[in-house]
Amino acid sequence: MFNLTNKVALITGGGSGIGFAIAQAMITAGAKVVITGRRENALQEAVASLGENASYQVNDVTVLENLETLVEAIESSVGAIDILVNNAGINMKKPAIEVTDEEFQRVIHTNLNAVFALSRTCGKRMMERKKGAIIMISSMAAYYGIDRVPAYSASKHGVEGLVKALSMDFSPQNVRVNAIAPGFIETAMMQTAMNSDPARMNKALDRTPMGYFGKPEDIGMAAVFLASEGAKYITGASLPVDGGNSIGF
Ligand code: NAI
Repeated sequence: MFNLTNKVALITGGGSGIGFAIAQAMITAGAKVVITGRRENALQEAVASLGENASYQVNDVTVLENLETLVEAIESSVGAIDILVNNAGINMKKPAIEVTDEEFQRVIHTNLNAVFALSRTCGKRMMERKKGAIIMISSMAAYYGIDRVPAYSASKHGVEGLVKALSMDFSPQNVRVNAIAPGFIETAMMQTAMNSDPARMNKALDRTPMGYFGKPEDIGMAAVFLASEGAKYITGASLPVDGGNSIGF
Protein backbone atom coordinates (compact mmCIF):
# COMPACT_ATOMS: atom_id res chain seq x y z
CA MET A 1 0.00 0.00 0.00
CA PHE A 2 3.04 2.29 0.15
CA ASN A 3 4.26 1.22 -3.27
CA LEU A 4 4.90 3.97 -5.83
CA THR A 5 5.53 1.75 -8.87
CA ASN A 6 4.55 3.47 -12.15
CA LYS A 7 4.27 6.85 -10.41
CA VAL A 8 6.19 9.89 -11.66
CA ALA A 9 7.40 12.33 -9.02
CA LEU A 10 8.72 15.85 -9.54
CA ILE A 11 10.89 17.03 -6.66
CA THR A 12 12.11 20.64 -6.72
CA GLY A 13 15.55 21.24 -5.24
CA GLY A 14 16.10 17.48 -5.29
CA GLY A 15 19.86 17.61 -5.78
CA SER A 16 20.72 17.95 -2.09
CA GLY A 17 19.55 17.58 1.49
CA ILE A 18 15.92 16.72 2.14
CA GLY A 19 14.91 16.78 -1.54
CA PHE A 20 17.62 14.25 -2.42
CA ALA A 21 16.51 11.96 0.41
CA ILE A 22 12.89 12.20 -0.77
CA ALA A 23 14.09 11.20 -4.26
CA GLN A 24 15.97 8.22 -2.83
CA ALA A 25 12.99 7.06 -0.77
CA MET A 26 10.53 7.42 -3.65
CA ILE A 27 12.82 5.48 -6.00
CA THR A 28 13.12 2.74 -3.39
CA ALA A 29 9.31 2.67 -3.30
CA GLY A 30 9.25 2.17 -7.09
CA ALA A 31 8.72 5.68 -8.49
CA LYS A 32 10.37 7.43 -11.41
CA VAL A 33 11.76 10.69 -10.11
CA VAL A 34 12.64 13.99 -11.77
CA ILE A 35 14.72 16.35 -9.66
CA THR A 36 15.20 20.03 -10.42
CA GLY A 37 17.67 22.67 -9.35
CA ARG A 38 19.80 25.48 -10.68
CA ARG A 39 23.22 23.80 -10.89
CA GLU A 40 23.59 21.17 -13.60
CA ASN A 41 26.74 19.63 -12.10
CA ALA A 42 25.06 18.95 -8.78
CA LEU A 43 22.02 17.49 -10.53
CA GLN A 44 24.18 15.23 -12.71
CA GLU A 45 25.98 13.90 -9.65
CA ALA A 46 22.72 13.35 -7.80
CA VAL A 47 21.14 11.48 -10.71
CA ALA A 48 24.25 9.32 -11.09
CA SER A 49 23.89 8.19 -7.50
CA LEU A 50 20.08 7.84 -7.65
CA GLY A 51 20.25 5.44 -10.60
CA GLU A 52 18.26 4.75 -13.73
CA ASN A 53 14.86 5.78 -12.37
CA ALA A 54 16.07 9.35 -11.83
CA SER A 55 16.47 12.22 -14.27
CA TYR A 56 16.90 15.96 -13.92
CA GLN A 57 15.79 19.27 -15.37
CA VAL A 58 17.77 22.45 -14.78
CA ASN A 59 15.19 24.89 -13.46
CA ASP A 60 15.07 27.88 -11.16
CA VAL A 61 11.67 27.81 -9.45
CA THR A 62 11.66 31.58 -9.05
CA VAL A 63 11.35 32.12 -12.81
CA LEU A 64 7.62 31.56 -12.70
CA GLU A 65 7.07 31.90 -16.43
CA ASN A 66 9.26 28.81 -17.06
CA LEU A 67 7.28 26.44 -14.84
CA GLU A 68 4.66 25.55 -17.45
CA THR A 69 7.45 24.61 -19.89
CA LEU A 70 9.16 22.54 -17.19
CA VAL A 71 6.02 20.53 -16.48
CA GLU A 72 5.31 20.08 -20.20
CA ALA A 73 8.87 18.84 -20.80
CA ILE A 74 8.64 16.29 -17.97
CA GLU A 75 5.18 15.04 -18.95
CA SER A 76 6.17 14.53 -22.58
CA SER A 77 9.49 12.82 -21.83
CA VAL A 78 8.96 10.90 -18.55
CA GLY A 79 5.17 10.75 -18.12
CA ALA A 80 2.25 12.39 -16.36
CA ILE A 81 3.30 13.79 -12.99
CA ASP A 82 1.52 11.94 -10.16
CA ILE A 83 3.46 13.47 -7.29
CA LEU A 84 4.76 17.01 -6.84
CA VAL A 85 7.08 17.73 -3.93
CA ASN A 86 7.62 21.47 -3.40
CA ASN A 87 10.91 21.11 -1.58
CA ALA A 88 13.15 23.91 -2.95
CA GLY A 89 13.55 26.60 -0.35
CA ILE A 90 15.91 29.18 1.08
CA ASN A 91 16.43 30.54 4.57
CA MET A 92 17.75 33.86 5.82
CA LYS A 93 18.66 34.48 9.41
CA LYS A 94 19.11 38.01 10.75
CA PRO A 95 17.32 40.31 13.18
CA ALA A 96 13.98 41.45 11.75
CA ILE A 97 14.90 45.14 11.84
CA GLU A 98 17.89 44.47 9.55
CA VAL A 99 15.94 42.60 6.89
CA THR A 100 15.45 44.71 3.76
CA ASP A 101 12.27 44.60 1.71
CA GLU A 102 14.24 43.05 -1.11
CA GLU A 103 15.55 40.25 1.12
CA PHE A 104 12.09 39.62 2.54
CA GLN A 105 10.60 39.39 -0.94
CA ARG A 106 13.34 37.08 -2.19
CA VAL A 107 12.53 34.49 0.47
CA ILE A 108 8.77 34.83 -0.08
CA HIS A 109 9.25 34.54 -3.83
CA THR A 110 11.20 31.26 -3.60
CA ASN A 111 9.36 29.63 -0.70
CA LEU A 112 5.79 30.75 -1.42
CA ASN A 113 5.15 32.40 -4.82
CA ALA A 114 6.98 29.62 -6.69
CA VAL A 115 5.23 26.94 -4.64
CA PHE A 116 1.85 28.37 -5.59
CA ALA A 117 2.73 28.74 -9.28
CA LEU A 118 4.04 25.19 -9.65
CA SER A 119 1.18 23.69 -7.61
CA ARG A 120 -1.32 25.51 -9.82
CA THR A 121 0.38 24.22 -12.98
CA CYS A 122 0.63 20.61 -11.80
CA GLY A 123 -2.69 20.73 -9.95
CA LYS A 124 -4.59 21.69 -13.11
CA ARG A 125 -3.22 18.66 -14.98
CA MET A 126 -3.69 16.34 -12.02
CA MET A 127 -7.33 17.42 -11.64
CA GLU A 128 -7.99 16.66 -15.31
CA ARG A 129 -6.60 13.15 -14.68
CA LYS A 130 -8.47 12.89 -11.37
CA LYS A 131 -5.41 11.81 -9.40
CA GLY A 132 -2.39 13.34 -7.82
CA ALA A 133 -0.57 14.17 -4.61
CA ILE A 134 1.09 17.47 -3.82
CA ILE A 135 3.46 17.65 -0.86
CA MET A 136 4.73 20.92 0.58
CA ILE A 137 7.78 21.12 2.82
CA SER A 138 6.82 23.39 5.69
CA SER A 139 8.81 23.98 8.90
CA MET A 140 8.66 24.32 12.66
CA ALA A 141 8.79 28.05 11.82
CA ALA A 142 5.14 27.65 10.78
CA TYR A 143 4.27 26.03 14.13
CA TYR A 144 5.84 28.38 16.68
CA GLY A 145 7.78 31.62 16.84
CA ILE A 146 11.48 31.55 16.00
CA ASP A 147 13.55 34.71 16.26
CA ARG A 148 15.55 36.18 13.35
CA VAL A 149 13.70 34.39 10.55
CA PRO A 150 10.76 36.70 9.76
CA ALA A 151 10.64 36.10 5.99
CA TYR A 152 11.17 32.36 6.30
CA SER A 153 8.45 32.10 8.98
CA ALA A 154 6.01 34.16 6.93
CA SER A 155 6.69 32.03 3.84
CA LYS A 156 6.16 28.74 5.69
CA HIS A 157 2.95 30.00 7.32
CA GLY A 158 1.86 30.88 3.78
CA VAL A 159 2.66 27.35 2.65
CA GLU A 160 0.50 25.94 5.44
CA GLY A 161 -2.33 28.22 4.30
CA LEU A 162 -1.91 27.00 0.73
CA VAL A 163 -2.22 23.39 1.90
CA LYS A 164 -5.66 24.13 3.30
CA ALA A 165 -6.88 26.35 0.46
CA LEU A 166 -5.58 24.14 -2.37
CA SER A 167 -7.05 21.04 -0.69
CA MET A 168 -10.44 22.71 -0.92
CA ASP A 169 -9.96 23.49 -4.61
CA PHE A 170 -8.19 20.30 -5.74
CA SER A 171 -9.35 17.42 -3.56
CA PRO A 172 -12.88 17.13 -5.02
CA GLN A 173 -10.97 15.94 -8.13
CA ASN A 174 -8.93 13.43 -6.08
CA VAL A 175 -5.81 15.58 -5.87
CA ARG A 176 -4.52 15.57 -2.30
CA VAL A 177 -2.45 18.41 -0.86
CA ASN A 178 -0.46 17.96 2.35
CA ALA A 179 2.58 19.33 4.13
CA ILE A 180 5.44 17.76 5.99
CA ALA A 181 6.78 20.02 8.70
CA PRO A 182 10.36 18.87 9.36
CA GLY A 183 11.87 19.51 12.73
CA PHE A 184 15.60 20.11 12.85
CA ILE A 185 17.08 17.91 10.14
CA GLU A 186 20.80 17.53 9.50
CA THR A 187 21.37 19.24 6.13
CA ALA A 188 23.53 22.06 4.77
CA MET A 189 20.70 24.53 5.45
CA MET A 190 20.43 23.51 9.09
CA GLN A 191 24.18 23.52 9.57
CA THR A 192 24.42 27.06 8.21
CA ALA A 193 21.72 28.21 10.62
CA MET A 194 23.05 26.32 13.65
CA ASN A 195 26.82 26.03 13.47
CA SER A 196 27.42 29.67 14.27
CA ASP A 197 24.71 29.67 16.94
CA PRO A 198 25.23 26.99 19.63
CA ALA A 199 22.54 28.59 21.84
CA ARG A 200 19.94 27.96 19.16
CA MET A 201 21.23 24.44 18.57
CA ASN A 202 20.91 23.57 22.27
CA LYS A 203 17.48 25.15 22.49
CA ALA A 204 16.25 23.08 19.55
CA LEU A 205 17.69 19.89 21.01
CA ASP A 206 16.35 20.59 24.51
CA ARG A 207 12.79 20.71 23.28
CA THR A 208 13.12 17.59 21.11
CA PRO A 209 11.93 14.66 23.26
CA MET A 210 13.69 12.10 21.05
CA GLY A 211 16.95 13.84 21.97
CA TYR A 212 18.63 14.04 18.57
CA PHE A 213 18.27 15.83 15.23
CA GLY A 214 16.52 14.16 12.32
CA LYS A 215 18.04 12.79 9.14
CA PRO A 216 16.88 13.67 5.63
CA GLU A 217 15.73 10.04 5.19
CA ASP A 218 13.14 10.61 7.95
CA ILE A 219 11.45 13.15 5.70
CA GLY A 220 11.87 10.84 2.70
CA MET A 221 9.88 8.05 4.34
CA ALA A 222 7.09 10.43 5.38
CA ALA A 223 6.90 11.76 1.82
CA VAL A 224 6.52 8.22 0.45
CA PHE A 225 3.64 7.66 2.86
CA LEU A 226 1.82 10.88 1.95
CA ALA A 227 2.30 10.21 -1.78
CA SER A 228 1.06 6.62 -1.56
CA GLU A 229 -2.34 4.94 -1.61
CA GLY A 230 -1.80 4.38 2.09
CA ALA A 231 -2.63 8.07 2.56
CA LYS A 232 -5.55 8.15 0.09
CA TYR A 233 -7.93 9.78 2.56
CA ILE A 234 -5.43 12.34 3.88
CA THR A 235 -5.60 15.87 2.50
CA GLY A 236 -5.17 19.34 3.98
CA ALA A 237 -2.91 17.96 6.70
CA SER A 238 0.46 19.04 8.03
CA LEU A 239 2.54 16.19 9.41
CA PRO A 240 5.32 17.12 11.83
CA VAL A 241 8.37 14.86 11.40
CA ASP A 242 10.32 16.35 14.22
CA GLY A 243 11.21 13.90 16.97
CA GLY A 244 8.50 15.63 19.00
CA ASN A 245 10.06 19.10 18.73
CA SER A 246 6.72 20.80 18.06
CA ILE A 247 5.20 19.50 21.30
CA GLY A 248 8.36 19.82 23.43
CA PHE A 249 8.39 22.09 26.46
P1 NAI B 1 19.22 22.54 1.21
O1 NAI B 1 19.75 23.93 1.13
O2 NAI B 1 20.15 21.38 1.26
O3 NAI B 1 18.22 22.26 0.01
C1 NAI B 1 17.45 23.23 -0.61
C2 NAI B 1 17.39 22.88 -2.08
O4 NAI B 1 16.58 23.83 -2.75
C3 NAI B 1 18.78 22.92 -2.72
O5 NAI B 1 18.95 21.79 -3.56
C4 NAI B 1 18.73 24.21 -3.52
O6 NAI B 1 19.56 24.17 -4.64
C5 NAI B 1 17.26 24.24 -3.90
N1 NAI B 1 16.82 25.58 -4.31
C6 NAI B 1 16.91 26.73 -3.62
N2 NAI B 1 16.45 27.75 -4.35
C7 NAI B 1 16.06 27.23 -5.54
C8 NAI B 1 15.53 27.76 -6.73
N3 NAI B 1 15.30 29.07 -6.86
N4 NAI B 1 15.24 26.93 -7.75
C9 NAI B 1 15.48 25.60 -7.65
N5 NAI B 1 16.00 25.03 -6.55
C10 NAI B 1 16.30 25.84 -5.52
O7 NAI B 1 18.24 22.56 2.46
P2 NAI B 1 17.26 21.46 3.05
O8 NAI B 1 17.43 21.52 4.51
O9 NAI B 1 17.36 20.17 2.35
O10 NAI B 1 15.83 22.16 2.71
C11 NAI B 1 14.84 21.56 1.90
C12 NAI B 1 13.49 22.09 2.33
O11 NAI B 1 13.24 21.69 3.68
C13 NAI B 1 13.36 23.63 2.32
O12 NAI B 1 12.08 23.99 1.85
C14 NAI B 1 13.51 23.99 3.79
O13 NAI B 1 12.87 25.20 4.09
C15 NAI B 1 12.84 22.81 4.45
N6 NAI B 1 13.19 22.60 5.85
C16 NAI B 1 14.43 22.20 6.24
C17 NAI B 1 14.70 21.98 7.59
C18 NAI B 1 16.01 21.49 8.10
O14 NAI B 1 16.17 21.38 9.34
N7 NAI B 1 16.98 21.17 7.29
C19 NAI B 1 13.67 22.20 8.61
C20 NAI B 1 12.42 22.63 8.08
C21 NAI B 1 12.19 22.81 6.76
